[in-house]
Formats: sequence, C-alpha cells, structure tokens
Amino acid sequence: MGLYDDMEQVLLSQQQIREKVEELGVQISQDYAGKEPVLVSVLKGAFIFMADLCRAITIPCSMDFMAVSSYGAGTESSGRVRIIKDLDTIIQNKHVILVEDVLDSGITLHYLIQLLRQRQPASLRLVTLLDKPARRRAQVDVDYCGFQVPDAFLVGYGLDYGEKYRNLPDVCILKRSMYQK
Ligand code: IMP
Ligand code: MG
Repeated sequence: MGLYDDMEQVLLSQQQIREKVEELGVQISQDYAGKEPVLVSVLKGAFIFMADLCRAITIPCSMDFMAVSSYGAGTESSGRVRIIKDLDTIIQNKHVILVEDVLDSGITLHYLIQLLRQRQPASLRLVTLLDKPARRRAQVDVDYCGFQVPDAFLVGYGLDYGEKYRNLPDVCILKRSMYQK
C-alpha cells in the first residue's frame, strides 16, 4: 500500500512544480535585487516550498519561520488563528516576503499580514504556491502565485491531512473517502 492509493489524482506533478518554483525564484531575484529580503515561511505546510524557493533565489536573503494553527486535524478552517511560534528576528525596516503553501479562506494570511505590518517592515509581499480563489472569505493581496487550484482538499509537497502525506513529491487531490466517513 503506497501513499498514492489514498489519492484521487495528481493535480500538479513534481516537474510542473519545479518549473514554477524556478520561475518564481527568478522573478523574486529580479524584483529584490540589492535589497536582501527576509523570507518568512509559515510552518509546517510551507517548509518544502520554502526549501525549494530559497534555492531558486539567486540574491542574498535571510530566512525566518512562524507557526500558526487554524485548522486542528480537519479539512475546514476553524476561523481562529493561534501563533504557535513567532519570528526569531526583528523585521522592522526589512523587506519581508511571506511564503505560504496554500491560500484558502485567507483567514490565516489576513491575520498574519496585519500582525507583521504592525512591526513596520520596509515592505511586505506574499508568495503562495497555491491559491484557491473560490474559497476566499478574507481579502488578501497575492503578489506572487504559483498555481490557481480548484476547491478540493490537496495534500503533498508539504501539505498534510492530519499530519500525513507531506512527503509526497506532487500535489494531489485526496480521496473524499479518506476524510468523509
Ligand atoms: P486559510 O486560513 O483558510 O487560508 O488556510 C490556509 C492554511 O490552511 C494553509 O496554510 C494550510 O495549512 C491549510 N490548508 C488550506 N487548504 C488546504 C488543503 O487543501 N490541504 C492542506 N492544507 C490546507
Ligand atoms: Mg495544515
């Protein structure tokens, strides 16, 4: 029994993802030339995207991590955001790029962006690998987006269901039978 037995289909292959991440890295490197941005990734879902994106960026940059929780173990946002781990560094006057795996309702990012703005960064932009526009409930401006995806529950490339499937190299649609009993 492999991990793929629980999948409806592969939505984005590792090859497609690799090419897109490469493009995003080139674009960000151009836009931030001379600026030394801080990449801030939201754990845990974005850890693989962060690892690949930072290596596609060819200018000096630093990295920091935050962990938030809004989901518990289910597939629907609880609508509440809790900071589990804050940044280690001071971002005042820094060019911050928030790195997210998936923008869904937008509640998590809307909250995080407000929080980081209060710390007065020189600039704050958002890069998300995946965007599910159909599910938006809070307004969030996306500066860099990898793929717009349909309203389905996705796993792999860092995304989990109940902490499982993060290690799948592709982004897959999880079978409904895995979470609808
Ligand atoms: P939002 O607050 O609804 O935008 O939730 C964003 C967070 O929910 C992401 O960082 C993910 O951790 C999680 N999430 C949203 N959609 C999915 C999905 O399809 N699969 C796995 N996690 C998801
Ligand atoms: Mg998650």
